[in-house]
Amino acid sequence: ATGTDPQQNSGGVRTAARAAIDAPHLRTDRWWLAPAATAAGLLAFVVYSAWRGFANADYYAAPYVSPFYSPCLAQNCRTMHAGPNADVFGSWWGLSPAIIILIFPLGFRLTCYYYRKAYYRSFWASPPACAVAEPHKKYTGETRFPLILQNVHRYFFYAAVLVAGVLTYDTVLAFRDTHYRWGHMGLGTLVFLVNIVLIWAYTISCHSCRHIVGGKLKHFSKHPVRYRAWSYVGRLNGRHMQLAWASLFSVWLADFYVYLVASGVFADPRFF
Ligand code: FES
Repeated sequence: ATGTDPQQNSGGVRTAARAAIDAPHLRTDRWWLAPAATAAGLLAFVVYSAWRGFANADYYAAPYVSPFYSPCLAQNCRTMHAGPNADVFGSWWGLSPAIIILIFPLGFRLTCYYYRKAYYRSFWASPPACAVAEPHKKYTGETRFPLILQNVHRYFFYAAVLVAGVLTYDTVLAFRDTHYRWGHMGLGTLVFLVNIVLIWAYTISCHSCRHIVGGKLKHFSKHPVRYRAWSYVGRLNGRHMQLAWASLFSVWLADFYVYLVASGVFADPRFF
């Protein structure tokens, strides 16, 4: 989303140096399909997560805790006896405990390189698609406030690793039954397992992670372990977009599953 020289590019595609083409674009395919589908998918997730995040209800059905509410850092949390919780915020926090923690995974995704491309295209039409001119007159990339704040992504990465660690713990706790006895599995355990694999795959495939693992090295030959790790992260990184969507759906499903069981729509089918 950044140009080589934002000042020089500030006239966008209509500068005198660019070819004067009257047509808004020359594409004949359905180029609008991808940004429209992206906008619909992201909007649906935003509406759903706002509803669930503010609901402050139906986020715990033993032994499962919704990933939207974990870890629970307020005293008003109804999972205090069962999950990885710490009453950091005490009793003065009267709002939904999800709000405290959702900032981190949502901030991670909001500043993610892939999601940036996705919402710049689908919501701001900047540009809407390859070879389709954007309607804006000026282009400054991410060089100014507020978009320069996208640079915090690398710090959100560290927070996301911590949250993924907590969700891993929640997945281990899902191998219990409703009386907290170990060695059991239900359909929810499988939902949690799929979710945590996808969450880790998405987190590790992050561009910041790739830089942390293999960046700032002059000679890969002198750092064979980091080179191998970088190669692995690089392979995952090539699928970052797919992992972004897959993990978005899986975390959505995991929360919705807990909601359905907690609200009594159906009982968690147990395998053993
Ligand atoms: Fe997408 Fe870091 S670039 S999560």
